[in-house]
Amino acid sequence: MSQRALKDRNMDVRKAFLEYFESKGHAKVASAPLVPDDATLLFNNAGMVPFKSIFTGEIPRPENPRATSCQTCLRAGGKHNDLENVGHTARHHTFFEMLGNFSFGDYFKEDAIAYAWEFLTEVLELPVEKLWVPVHDSDDEAEEIWKKYISSERIMRMGDKDNFWQMGDTGPCGPCSEIFFDQGEENFNGPEDHMGGEGDRFLEIWNLVFMQYERSKDGTLTPLPKPSIDTGMGLERVIAIKEGKLSNYDTTMFMPMINKVEEFTGQKYEYATGASYRVIADHIRTAVFLLSQDINFSNEGRGYVLRRILRRAVRHGYLLGLHEAFMYKIVDILVAQMKDVYPYLATKAETVKTQIQLEEERFYKTIASGIELFNAELVNTKEVFSGEVAFKLYDTFGFPLDLTEDMLKEKNLKLDSAKFDVLMKEQRERAKAAWKGSGDAANSGDFKALLEKFGKNEFVGYEGESNEANVLALLSEDFKIVDELHATHTGWVLLDQTPFYAESGGQVGDIGVIEGFATVTDTRKFFDLNLSHVEVKKTLTTGAKINAVVDISRLEIEKHHSATHLLHAALYDVLGEHISQAGSLNDATRLRFDFSHPKAMSDVEIAAVEEQVNYQILRGIAGQTKEMSIDEAKNSGAKAQFGEKYGDKVRVVSFGDSSV
Ligand code: ALA
Repeated sequence: MSQRALKDRNMDVRKAFLEYFESKGHAKVASAPLVPDDATLLFNNAGMVPFKSIFTGEIPRPENPRATSCQTCLRAGGKHNDLENVGHTARHHTFFEMLGNFSFGDYFKEDAIAYAWEFLTEVLELPVEKLWVPVHDSDDEAEEIWKKYISSERIMRMGDKDNFWQMGDTGPCGPCSEIFFDQGEENFNGPEDHMGGEGDRFLEIWNLVFMQYERSKDGTLTPLPKPSIDTGMGLERVIAIKEGKLSNYDTTMFMPMINKVEEFTGQKYEYATGASYRVIADHIRTAVFLLSQDINFSNEGRGYVLRRILRRAVRHGYLLGLHEAFMYKIVDILVAQMKDVYPYLATKAETVKTQIQLEEERFYKTIASGIELFNAELVNTKEVFSGEVAFKLYDTFGFPLDLTEDMLKEKNLKLDSAKFDVLMKEQRERAKAAWKGSGDAANSGDFKALLEKFGKNEFVGYEGESNEANVLALLSEDFKIVDELHATHTGWVLLDQTPFYAESGGQVGDIGVIEGFATVTDTRKFFDLNLSHVEVKKTLTTGAKINAVVDISRLEIEKHHSATHLLHAALYDVLGEHISQAGSLNDATRLRFDFSHPKAMSDVEIAAVEEQVNYQILRGIAGQTKEMSIDEAKNSGAKAQFGEKYGDKVRVVSFGDSSV
């Protein structure tokens, strides 16, 4: 590496990247939550995921067609899964941060390449002679552009496997051109250390995807409305290069955590024998981010992925000779390092530590017996390990399947997974049902056409419970535009001015009537459209003038919604600031409020919360509502929910000074 490139080793790469692209007219967009707003994905696995519907044209592109972000990503399941590699390579992680620049039908290959090149060679000052750029086999255009910057022998053609990127089995995709950094033959000279090989010598640092198609379920590719750009640069890899390290784990991002584990084991970490240390340093990041974003340990869905990852790390601690909970003691180091970028980590740190400690202790109770059972079975195993024992390990001792497989891999053994699968089938199906979610129809409706034609419709229900309105559009059950809805049919109606509140913030959607024509059985938001579900009594026609009336039950729902806010405030005061809403329901008969707190509440705490809420109700404080910008709202002390979407203007509800 040249002296020049090493000049500013400690530069803040995240900041430099975002500032560079802002200077090129990109809007800086905050990282979206790890759980995506997308039923086809388990976790956010790339910087482009939050923009998927803009790429596909399902929703109109924003005013500024350029965006840049530093997105937290998780690759621990589904199409992009790096779990198996963690610890065994210098560069894979489950949790990582992806820097990206995006063009929604604005610039394409020419500018994407020019920006990438300028950023790498002039801002990061990477030495040009170390860079290599594969392009897709079919992409003459990209090759021609690259020739302006780099000599032809360092441009390579590669096939679909390496140079065609797609988000998942479905979704936007296209040929891509990657940028590799050569870490030197003197450092890596194994048989796989060539371009395209599996070795660590050539490090992929950036992927420029030329988004051109959308892949549908049957595999067909449809051209996108406009060719677009999606890029992804691995923050941890770039930091390793800047710090002059050959492994991400040797950098200032990971070493402080590895050093902490060294303290516990009393041994020195060495790269060659240190896979367990690396697994722990990787997995703690995943666990802390998920827990801080209100995903909790569970036996299904995302919470089970979290449990698997934590238990895997605990087992690696066990291998290092640690026989009691230790992971929770690393949390503070990570939080100190990341809290300026992700402030919610600091708010949640204490709860997260307790949650991790309790989970570790749960697993430590059974890990020794589990490993004993595993070892006993090993004696009987020639090539294939018993599926029944693996199931027993899973069911009785809390060993996730991939943990057992990981243990078998170390012994070069296989698992009778067919047998295991039979035994597991029931649990699997339950888990799948839990996160697959609905929303398939909603993913293919005519929302874009409606948004383009009408923009978002106005909600006027705060001013009154009934009003005259025009029927802008009618939709079938699967959200296709129809001219009319006939008696006894059901569908959705879009009103220009609707008094019906769409389900959100835990408050159920309003019901009511469209006088003389239909009963409204639910109201929901799809993108920016507030749609009411109707059971039709008399033919409803697009363009009709109608009278919309909200059911009286709204008053009851509102009471419960208000009480929820008081309850939230009281929990916050009594239990602490880490309390955040994990779900809530307000309907006409009751309220339910889910929150994460590491322990069961004591009787004293429950009484204190009840007293505070009742006191506020008895004071009879009037609720006040005010519209303001999101920044003004935050300054006024308003509480926002993690991952909840808010517009530029928000409606702030307050009850005196007790709840905002
Ligand atoms: N979406 C592309 C990737 O994840 C940039 O590699």
